[in-house]
Amino acid sequence: MTKYYMPTKIIFGEKTFGELFSELREAKVKKPLIICGKHFISSLRYRVIQDTLPFFKLFTEVRPNPSTASVDAAAKMLNEENCDAVIGIGGGSILDVAKVVACMKNYGKSCESFYKSLRPKAAVPFFALPTTSGSGSEITKYSVLTTNAGVKKTLRSDKFYAKVAIVDPQLTYSMPPELTAATGIDAFCQAVESYWSKGAMPETDKWAEESIKLSYFNLVKAVKDPDKYVRINMSLASLNAARAFSNTGTTACHTLSYAFTKHYGLAHGFAVAITLPWFLGFYAEKNEKKCLDICSFIGADGIEDGKAKITQLLQQIGAPARLGEIGFVPPDVEKIIGMSLQHKPNNPRKHTRQDLERLLAELY
Ligand SMILES: [Fe+2]
Repeated sequence: MTKYYMPTKIIFGEKTFGELFSELREAKVKKPLIICGKHFISSLRYRVIQDTLPFFKLFTEVRPNPSTASVDAAAKMLNEENCDAVIGIGGGSILDVAKVVACMKNYGKSCESFYKSLRPKAAVPFFALPTTSGSGSEITKYSVLTTNAGVKKTLRSDKFYAKVAIVDPQLTYSMPPELTAATGIDAFCQAVESYWSKGAMPETDKWAEESIKLSYFNLVKAVKDPDKYVRINMSLASLNAARAFSNTGTTACHTLSYAFTKHYGLAHGFAVAITLPWFLGFYAEKNEKKCLDICSFIGADGIEDGKAKITQLLQQIGAPARLGEIGFVPPDVEKIIGMSLQHKPNNPRKHTRQDLERLLAELY
């Protein structure tokens, strides 16, 4: 049996930003809470929002690797101002916050209680507009937040799906090269991880394959010499990766990434990608067919060539390919392994402590 679920209305294309207003009218939204980055409020599109929406409130206090405290602060505003919808305009961090806030209408407790029981009292509609090409958060049910105890933890619920996702590649035009690289490689990894996931199914494989090809063949140009066409292709790569991994989840590369981000401040996408070539070899020992497919999608001849080609991609976009480059030293082994032994049910192969010790030694 396979089960594919995607309740979000997806609007994709250049100049689709304005669709937001008709969607808000259709949903009879009177006073939305807009969660966005500080730089967005100096943009022309913010001026359009000001000219078009009679009432709205603004929350701009979301940092990368967002915290549950940010969610609680935005939810306080949602409730005190009696807002009836949430609009998230930003990268993965902002969208991860916004989707949880939308579930906190009249909810008297901290969002950390959702880790025990995800039973919101009421939810308001959530509209998602990504400004990066990578996280795919606009159409997933996942929110990765850092708790008050400093631990990155994933909340997942069908209640987090946006009512409408508007993916307008023009919103990504102003991304600087490093952000383009870090978010774009996240999309590539999410598509690869979906494809080799045990939860993969024909629907997700189709999206993942398209995303792997789009991101692999467009990312270098998107970072070094972007034009409208590569921005559109990367937006589509990100969206299609999310169409796939929204239903399959990610795998061990994402699990290990949290330790690299926490201990070395590495951007999420780079932290995921650094172990991807290694896991391509590791998972190929269990599911060679899927891993060989991935290699063929990127024009590689076999697993070793696939590992080399992905490593070369990392180097071309300025991403670290070895752990020594990010500040990892051998005495750090325990603190990395301590955070990384958790096993996701869809991992194609279980990794042991010995496997991780070998990974850390080989990638150093
Ligand atoms: Fe990711």
